[in-house]
Amino acid sequence: MKKTAFLALAVMVSALSYAGTPQSRLTANDKKINAIIAKMTLEEKVQMLHSKTIMSSEGVPSQGIQEIRYADGPFGIRDEVGDGFRPMNWTTDSATYFPTGSALAATWSPELAYRYGHGMGVEGRKRGKDVILGPAINIQRLPVGGRTYEYLSEDPFLAAALAVEYTKGSQDAGTAVCVKHFALNNQETNRGSVNVIADERTMRELYLKPFEAAVTKGGAMVVMPAYNKVNGYYCSENNHLLNEILRGDWGFKGFTVSDWGGTHSTVGAAMGGLNVQMTGDNYFGKALIDSVNAGIVPMSVIDSKVRELLRVRFAIKAVPADVANQSTASQPESRRTAYDVATKSVVLLKNEGGVLPIKPSVKKIAVIGHNAVALTARGGVGAGVKAPYEITPLQGIQNRAGNVTVTYAEGYTLPQTGGWGRQQAAAPSMDLDLMVQAIKAASEADMVIYVCGTSKSIETEGSDRSDIKLPLGQEELIAAISAVNPNIATVIISGGPCDLQKLDKYSPAIVQGWWNGLEGGNALADILFGKIAPSGKLPFTFPIRLEDSPAYAMGNFPQRSTASAGNGDLFTNMYRQDLGGNRNAARTNTVPDAEYSEKLLVGYRWFDTKEKPVMYAFGHGLSYVDFNYGTAKANKSSYKAKDVIKVTFNLTNEGTMEADEVAQLYVHYTDSKIERPYKELKAFKRVTVGAGQTAQVTLEVPVMELRYWDESVNGWVLEGGSIELMIGSASDDIRQSVTVNI
Ligand code: BGC
Repeated sequence: MKKTAFLALAVMVSALSYAGTPQSRLTANDKKINAIIAKMTLEEKVQMLHSKTIMSSEGVPSQGIQEIRYADGPFGIRDEVGDGFRPMNWTTDSATYFPTGSALAATWSPELAYRYGHGMGVEGRKRGKDVILGPAINIQRLPVGGRTYEYLSEDPFLAAALAVEYTKGSQDAGTAVCVKHFALNNQETNRGSVNVIADERTMRELYLKPFEAAVTKGGAMVVMPAYNKVNGYYCSENNHLLNEILRGDWGFKGFTVSDWGGTHSTVGAAMGGLNVQMTGDNYFGKALIDSVNAGIVPMSVIDSKVRELLRVRFAIKAVPADVANQSTASQPESRRTAYDVATKSVVLLKNEGGVLPIKPSVKKIAVIGHNAVALTARGGVGAGVKAPYEITPLQGIQNRAGNVTVTYAEGYTLPQTGGWGRQQAAAPSMDLDLMVQAIKAASEADMVIYVCGTSKSIETEGSDRSDIKLPLGQEELIAAISAVNPNIATVIISGGPCDLQKLDKYSPAIVQGWWNGLEGGNALADILFGKIAPSGKLPFTFPIRLEDSPAYAMGNFPQRSTASAGNGDLFTNMYRQDLGGNRNAARTNTVPDAEYSEKLLVGYRWFDTKEKPVMYAFGHGLSYVDFNYGTAKANKSSYKAKDVIKVTFNLTNEGTMEADEVAQLYVHYTDSKIERPYKELKAFKRVTVGAGQTAQVTLEVPVMELRYWDESVNGWVLEGGSIELMIGSASDDIRQSVTVNI
């Protein structure tokens, strides 16, 4: 395609209007809001632009407009906290513990994401909250990332589809979402000061995509600028991100609230697009008033900030005081959603010899591993919830065991919650006594369910894992168990990927079980006993070795740090007593830049393009049945920019039980003139098919979804040519392909 045609398309895109979009509902009260602003003093306005308490910001008391109340987090309405995040120990602040982000993503189900968001929204209101600090939707760039479990996926298309529905669900229930952390907060190492260097195309096509979708398609009302810098500027004062892209290109009408402790300046942040400083008022308090009085920050800028806040305040009705926090927020419907998400998220990675589902001949099961009894609702620093109950894997297996005898041995111990993550978690070492007991239990059983993995002290906000190895002798333990009983099904309880090279040798069946919410144990047991066929698909790649993954292979992570004070983490420094609450400690560190020179080649995009083997591929997940993909047909052979490509095929369940399959469609440009990943996910569908039945499946790709970001025109451009539509059960299991022209 010629450059002139490129330009025409780019112009067409930039001329898009935002009238009638999900954002435009926020402007419905602008007249009323402007009248209110006209009556406000500068002091009243600025009062709204910083924290009132650790989890609220001020309204307009003189005009009867209530404060805005925030609550973590992405997977359950967090319990009430006071200054310094002290727990308030209320008796009415429990809420449903939903499966964490990567588990939700493993369902590949926008429908479930909507129900999940809706449940969060309903419970948010029961807790008297206006804004949920979530969903957390950054791309999982590093296998070691401390917040991988909160985040959704390494793929922007999957993350976007889920973020949109979570957003709609919550906001339909009357609670605004605050999508976080905007943007490129893909590592916890030095997150408070690291400067991420990424080119515009990489940002637009990969890292910003889920945010763009949540704002433009989901109508997200609040956005949280991240701790880190992007291309030289802190996110909370990043004019390009907040003003040019978020407000300009995406038409965002709501407000931004800095991550807690992530505001760094008065004028920079005020002009750079931040609405609310969280927490404190050292920048957006008196200093901001002075800047306005000195004529440095125009009053119109302050008015815009207040207007954007009031738009959300008007769109979200404040919960009456006599409704909030009357009893536990947890609702039966949310718990049902949590169970459904959990059952659809469990990923069967491997099932040699059909070890699973558990056979009727198995009369005695030894459940082995600390993670079979570990509680996971809390921990990991910010994200956590006071669950009314939590069914552990062991309890779930006991609940569903019927006549089967279940024994338990701990095998190893893991540090659990730990205040600020790993810094304070004393790491215990391998425990030989526990090992011996576990081996004995295994030798006396027909089958072993080995529950291993990490904990929320190992995967946590504020630090990244140093490796992805299964910790604390878990590999040695399974080797010893397999010598006495090789009939093992392993369940990995973790939020991110683990190195499975050793485990793989000893375990004929492996299941990824996630941190799966308060019904997680029941859901897991229903899969293990074969009541439900597993149908989760990996939302990220399991590399063979950590070093194979792109940021490591390119030498971009870990960055060699000369940091000396704290861990370079603003948030944890702010509340750590040993640093005397010195929130600037992190800023004095010399932290090397995080170069994203692998560009678009993150996750499977890297492994596919570089033809590197992986342990388990993005999109992988087995079932107890086989699915046959019939011949795929496209509805046309050639498409224009405004068309929607429709590919139809028959999907047959060849097994003897009902099962779900997630059919995936990847696009490969066969003769592209520009650099692209080998293939990219562009459509998927979860389908339920009865035993022996056939379903007709149609996957749709709007041609506009195929545009790439052209830096020379600073816009989205469609490249014409021949594309292969690759349809399959995983990114490495393509069953059908159709070639069409654009
Ligand atoms: C986290 C946010 C969280 C906030 C408030 C920060 O440390 O990065 O995700 O919403 O704390 O708890």
